[in-house]
Amino acid sequence: MSADRADRPRRELATAAPPRVEPMRLEDLDAVTGIDRRSFPSPWARQSFINDLHNPAARYIVVRRPGEVVGFAGMWLIGEEAHISTLAVHLDHRGQGHGKRLLLRLIELARDAGAERVTLEVREENWVARRLYERFGFRPVAFLKSYYADTGENGIVMWLKPVLADRSGLPASDDRAPEDAERP
Ligand SMILES: CC(C)(COP(=O)(O)OP(=O)(O)OC[C@H]1O[C@@H](n2cnc3c(N)ncnc32)[C@H](O)[C@@H]1OP(=O)(O)O)[C@@H](O)C(=O)NCCC(=O)NCCS
Repeated sequence: MSADRADRPRRELATAAPPRVEPMRLEDLDAVTGIDRRSFPSPWARQSFINDLHNPAARYIVVRRPGEVVGFAGMWLIGEEAHISTLAVHLDHRGQGHGKRLLLRLIELARDAGAERVTLEVREENWVARRLYERFGFRPVAFLKSYYADTGENGIVMWLKPVLADRSGLPASDDRAPEDAERP
């Protein structure tokens, strides 16, 4: 048997391994900034992520497949409010539930930190993201005319209140890593 064939079961197992949601680490930043650049018209500077990884009031997470980061998200905890600052999934891995995994974990982390509501801003025309947020119970509460300076798009402020982690529509597997609740 060739080395390639002998290796196949191990590779297939690795491919089948469930994605895991874990705290973001500094060594994830090449992948994270790569996804960010391809997801937003105004991607963040690497230093902004570094600052947030050192900010005790911030929570940043990634979805990890064997050998790669396929999505990330973050939020700030400000008093009784959790403010989602970013959320993106690699173009090649969209539509596979990773956005839901990330959002669910952020809501769980917000609830665990005692937040009473979760808030975010989304571009008015970003229907995929708006649908995702609505699935979790977020509701539009304010309209921000020409809020996004890069494209002039309007923004929508959405709130989830009270904070409830709704698992409806999520994959049945529990992909939670034991260290998930901890900061890196
Ligand atoms: C928004 C984003 C994070 C969703 O990630 P994803 O992994 O593709 O999302 P999921 O597969 O978990 O799908 C979550 C929900 O989003 C919606 N959705 C996903 N893909 C969609 C599509 N092509 N069309 C319409 N709705 C879609 C659906 O409501 C879906 O839930 P459902 O499949 O149970 O109906 C991803 O599209 C992305 O990175 N976009 C660019 C960055 C961005 O806009 N981030 C949000 C900033 S506010």
